[in-house]
Amino acid sequence: MEHDVIWRPQPRQLAFMSRFEDEALYGGAAGGGKSDALVIEATRQVHISHYKALILRKTYPQLAELIEKSQRYYPLAFPEARYNASEHAWRFPSGAKIIFGSMQHTGDKLRYQGQAYDMIAFDELTHFTYEEYVYLQSRNRPNGPGTRCYMRSTANPGGIGHGWVKERFITAAEPMKTIWESVQVRMPSGQTMTKYRSRIFVPSSVFDNAILLQNDPDYLTKLAAMPEAERKALLYGDWDSYSGQYFTEWRDKPEHYNDRQWTHVIEPFEIPAGWRIYRSFDWGYNKPFSCGWWAVDHDGVVYRILELYGCTGTPNEGVRWNAPQVFEEIHRIETEHQWLKGKSITGVADPAIFASDGGESIAETASKYRVYFSPGDHQRIPGWMQMHYRLAFDGNGFPMMYVFKNCKAFIRTVPTLIYDEHKVEDLDTEGEDHVADEARYFCMSRPIKPRRAQIPDAFETNPMRLFLDVKKEDVQYTARPRIEFGEVKS
Ligand SMILES: Nc1ncnc2c1ncn2[C@@H]1O[C@H](COP(=O)(O)OP(=O)(O)OP(=O)(O)O)[C@@H](O)[C@H]1O
Ligand SMILES: [Mg+2]
Repeated sequence: MEHDVIWRPQPRQLAFMSRFEDEALYGGAAGGGKSDALVIEATRQVHISHYKALILRKTYPQLAELIEKSQRYYPLAFPEARYNASEHAWRFPSGAKIIFGSMQHTGDKLRYQGQAYDMIAFDELTHFTYEEYVYLQSRNRPNGPGTRCYMRSTANPGGIGHGWVKERFITAAEPMKTIWESVQVRMPSGQTMTKYRSRIFVPSSVFDNAILLQNDPDYLTKLAAMPEAERKALLYGDWDSYSGQYFTEWRDKPEHYNDRQWTHVIEPFEIPAGWRIYRSFDWGYNKPFSCGWWAVDHDGVVYRILELYGCTGTPNEGVRWNAPQVFEEIHRIETEHQWLKGKSITGVADPAIFASDGGESIAETASKYRVYFSPGDHQRIPGWMQMHYRLAFDGNGFPMMYVFKNCKAFIRTVPTLIYDEHKVEDLDTEGEDHVADEARYFCMSRPIKPRRAQIPDAFETNPMRLFLDVKKEDVQYTARPRIEFGEVKS
């Protein structure tokens, strides 16, 4: 092997680094070599004098890991490059810059106002909110001619942004398939133009990082010894199960939509005449409002049959309907939908909508549209426990709560909620929790006794067997002083 290569992508890193898409996410299991690939990728255009790259981590202390990586690699490949510790920035002989930044609070984004970055890299993207990502995307502009503008991210499953990252990159298409999104751009002339943006998900696995496995043969054993949820997320890059998930009992198994075992999501069916119907509601304006309709069978099993979720196409962004608009629509659905019309519907809502503050309360407005509510019990922990009891499967795989597959907002948001870091029993209210809140008021209106959860053991793998699957030929050695990138293919 030549002596002048200081860093060379391993096969999966090469797959990531050779993508042409505007956005790419390199994600999955821990230790796959994701952060290394990101720090190296940022140097691809440093020969261009006006090139500027931004590498982001959520908090400043976490950035240290990336800065250390840069200090290990950059001086070897670019001996004249200088690091300015107070600016957290590398300046290259051409004048190009690579800047390290953090964004602990969403307001910190203003630090990047008015800036342009040819390349933006997010390490651990699931620690960021969608709003933060999109804001930075608006900063992804060329600083001059001849640079390529693109965004690259890495992530492990879990974290506050798990939901939107999964939706944007993972469930949108199969791995390694380009996702094309069309955007309408209005020109000053008034004409609209359709532009296309592309993105892709490149899965990573620790088994792709032969260098790490060679240097630390115990690494896999350490991962394999973790609790189930962490192990599935970090060892296998499983986006459906991750540490910190609040409703770990949640299962969505299309192969069981009809037999209704070991799954919460099911195929819709006609609601039998004698079943009672309920409506639960959480108000929102800037954030989405959420309305759910439930049917209850004679055994007390609840079915979420319909929902109206006031969200724009952007996760956690409200449609900003005023109260009359919301309740007119709810009334329309209740008088027109075949499962609801002519039924007596019992409503429960966030007690906050009964506050009048001198004017008309939201609940009063609702009643003008014949949409009636009683105030829900808003004790959070007992409410969440009721959700847990209902989601728990019995020994035969039957839960006490089902969700019709048409209830997209529940299915999208509830599984992504995570624990609050400070209040250990509660969930993190920074997540998109409006459907969960409204479902919680409903569950509290019909409390049940605790049920012990049976978790299906779906993932049985022998870590030592996987360990043996790493081929010797895949191991590459590092020398100095040159970086090899993959060529970008289009
Ligand atoms: N191409 C490479 N050449 C040499 N060493 C590498 C290469 N890729 C990764 N490594 C080494 O493997 C280890 C793990 O890589 P890295 O930190 O990039 O993983 P990661 O996927 O970001 O992990 P985590 O999920 O824990 O953040 C590091 O010590 C890194 O330097
Ligand atoms: Mg990393």
